[in-house]
Amino acid sequence: MASTFSKVLLAGLTAFFLSVSLLAPPAAAQAPASVNPTAQSVKEQQLLDALKPGQALSGRASIPNKNAATLIQPGRDWRAYNQETLPRLAAIAVLGALAALVLFYLLRGKIMIDAGRSTMRILRFGAIDRFVHWLTATSFLTLALTGANVTFGKTLLAPIMGAEAFAAWAGFAKLIHNYVGFAFMAGVALTFLIWVKDNIPNMIDVKWFAAGGGLLSKGSHPPAKRFNGGQKIVFWSVVLGGAFMSISGWHLLFPTNEGLAEVQWHATIHGTLAFVMLALILAHIYIGSVGMEGAFDAMGSGEVDLNWAKEHHSLWVKEEQARKGTSRISGAAQPAE
Ligand code: HEM
Repeated sequence: MASTFSKVLLAGLTAFFLSVSLLAPPAAAQAPASVNPTAQSVKEQQLLDALKPGQALSGRASIPNKNAATLIQPGRDWRAYNQETLPRLAAIAVLGALAALVLFYLLRGKIMIDAGRSTMRILRFGAIDRFVHWLTATSFLTLALTGANVTFGKTLLAPIMGAEAFAAWAGFAKLIHNYVGFAFMAGVALTFLIWVKDNIPNMIDVKWFAAGGGLLSKGSHPPAKRFNGGQKIVFWSVVLGGAFMSISGWHLLFPTNEGLAEVQWHATIHGTLAFVMLALILAHIYIGSVGMEGAFDAMGSGEVDLNWAKEHHSLWVKEEQARKGTSRISGAAQPAE
């Protein structure tokens, strides 16, 4: 009797616990924040639910590349910045710079040599100066075009070229970008070495800026040595901006030993600074070519008109005239008036 009772009791308890365990929700569906991807087999949605902003879901990796252990990285903010915010900022910077230049041209016109061209010329930049300038300039412009393709290509070019042609071009552009980066790094380093002595800021620059650089009104020419205040801004922007572009670019080229968050930071700095530099360089190109009579010669033949030099770099001309040894001034002397 007692044994029959205990058998019934045992069967009843077994049935009860069995039904309770079947009714209970599966453990994996509870508390997504406690998901451990290396201990449990989980569904992708659970991993996504467990991911708080800025967090990564990582497990363990026995190979040297620790990034391989990251199942899901914090990248939504980064993606939103790169795909939405950066293109907007870049468009504002580049179109804003172009609009400002058009406005400047309409208000001021081309800056002419006030005294007219002379018959004499003065050597402004020798072969080494010009080689370094054009190495930096051509590599920068190549990088700007191939880099802008990353930010704008998919939106602007892909619809025109078609997906396949765009994919081929984008792959080629990336390759060019990676290699030309080294030429730019060399150009920036050489620019620093050959021109730093003439680009230390001083009080002459303060006076130059106070006079608006003589750019705003005809006939006003504040004194300047070899480089004026505005050119020193260009120089330091190229050197410091170029250094930051080079460091961040290097980390993007060789990212194997760092975390993904670091790589994202380098990509953000690289993309943002690129467009700031491009906006400034557009102004530089304008003033060094169509915006100012006689300016391009400095980087073309290397010799500039003496009157141009006297108007824009009066103190430098005096230094050159006082130089002993070979004169850098050539051409027929002007008849006395
Ligand atoms: C087609 C494009 C360009 C033209 C026509 C141009 C023209 C010039 C000219 C004429 C000068 C000498 C100005 C003077 O005699 O005082 C100069 C200087 C200079 N350029 Fe360029 N340039 C171009 C692109 C670039 C680029 C892309 C960079 C760098 C990313 C650059 C960096 C510099 C620097 C650092 C100087 C010395 C500082 C200054 O004069 O502003 N240039 N450029």
